[in-house]
Amino acid sequence: MTNEDRAILIKAATQAREHAHAPYSHFRVGAALRAKSGRIFTGCNIENSTFGLTLCAERVAVFKALSEGERAFDAVAVVAETERLTPPCGACRQILWEFCRDAEIVLANLSGQIEVRRISDLFPEAFDASFL
Ligand code: THU
Repeated sequence: MTNEDRAILIKAATQAREHAHAPYSHFRVGAALRAKSGRIFTGCNIENSTFGLTLCAERVAVFKALSEGERAFDAVAVVAETERLTPPCGACRQILWEFCRDAEIVLANLSGQIEVRRISDLFPEAFDASFL
């Protein structure tokens, strides 16, 4: 991924964040996933009054892409308005490990801070199909 590619993905995630449905936490997150085909899929967090049914931005983006037939990904950007850049939650890490193992995880905030991570660093000793 070039810096320009990352900037495009961060912009898409920032725009998706505007659609967040977060009336309970008021914590808005946007994600954007670039498939190897070049298509970009976005997601935002969607909360629910039962709380437990809340979906994170990352999983919305991944499931949208999977449901459109994509299976290989270059990078996923996650954007929130935090000074310490917001990383994917544990549930999303499990999903990213399953479907986006080799993708860059690009964390960013609205002030332009950026960090690039790998899911293998964020999610060591993961359970996966190799145990089945
Ligand atoms: N959230 C995400 O969408 N992605 C993350 O990486 C962290 C948390 C959402 C879930 C919930 O709607 C709100 O942020 C507070 O946890």
